[in-house]
Amino acid sequence: MAYNLLKGKKGIIFGALNEQSIAWKVAQRAVQEGAEIVLSNAPIALRMGELNKLAEECNAPVIGCDVTNGDDINNLFTKTKEHFGGGVDFILHSIGMSVNVRKNIPYYENNYDFTHKGFDISALSLHRILQAAMKHDAINEWGSVLALSYIAAQRYFPGYNDMADNKAVLESIARNFGYEYGVTKKVRVNTISQSPTRTTAGSGVKGFDGFIDFAEKMSPLGNADADQCADYCVTLFSDLTKMVTMQNLFHDGGFSFTGVTQAVIDQMGK
Ligand SMILES: NC(=O)c1ccc[n+]([C@@H]2O[C@H](COP(=O)([O-])OP(=O)(O)OC[C@H]3O[C@@H](n4cnc5c(N)ncnc54)[C@H](O)[C@@H]3O)[C@@H](O)[C@H]2O)c1
Repeated sequence: MAYNLLKGKKGIIFGALNEQSIAWKVAQRAVQEGAEIVLSNAPIALRMGELNKLAEECNAPVIGCDVTNGDDINNLFTKTKEHFGGGVDFILHSIGMSVNVRKNIPYYENNYDFTHKGFDISALSLHRILQAAMKHDAINEWGSVLALSYIAAQRYFPGYNDMADNKAVLESIARNFGYEYGVTKKVRVNTISQSPTRTTAGSGVKGFDGFIDFAEKMSPLGNADADQCADYCVTLFSDLTKMVTMQNLFHDGGFSFTGVTQAVIDQMGK
């Protein structure tokens, strides 16, 4: 069901890779709610070609951008402003990658070249995007920026590796830039800490299926899926949440505040 929550709003969605991607669902949902969007992903992801399907469905241009590259980000904002004839009202940062995770290198043996690359892509990119957006004056007053995080920013999860550090910094950047952009232009910046979700990035984490099952049993409402995450993102892009900023918002069926559940106790007793 659509509520026209984003009627007249314009936005940039980073990170839709395939139909499983959280960003893919957010793009579809934002357009259903009346938004016009620009889709962006790294050039290597664009070469896979799947994004064209979504672009057609959403009637959205695709602008390639490696978020570790300042020139790419500047080009994205220049072209986006040309396309819309002005700034945007929302941005989704749905980007993450760790080479240490991909190569199954344990945390205590991390390769620092890989660590730097993962940090640049997964955390610093939010700062780069916001800094460039400010320079280009690319976000309208009362705009909303969202990035996706995970509870490993606060607590240890095996296999999440250096992505845990990246998410901690990502949340910190949202908080600090949220202040700066709030006072200068009333732009809000938040992170959503999402349940484990079956996507390309998610499945890269060792033992991911076990993760998902455990989180499902540890959440009174069960795990939140990608479609439900898209619903939540849309509310945070809308004018109904104008005073929410600098927050890390858990979207996890209650997992983050549950000590233990009866389902887990029963399982342990077996
Ligand atoms: N899947 C989960 O369990 C889960 C849980 C909580 C948070 N998240 C977060 O959600 C976000 C989206 O991930 P997803 O699960 O939809 O997986 P996904 O693999 O579909 O999306 C990750 C995206 O990052 C993009 N990317 C990687 N390097 C890039 C670069 N240099 N420049 C631009 N884009 C780049 C990829 O092309 C891809 O589109 C990530 O931040 C992820 O950490 C995922």
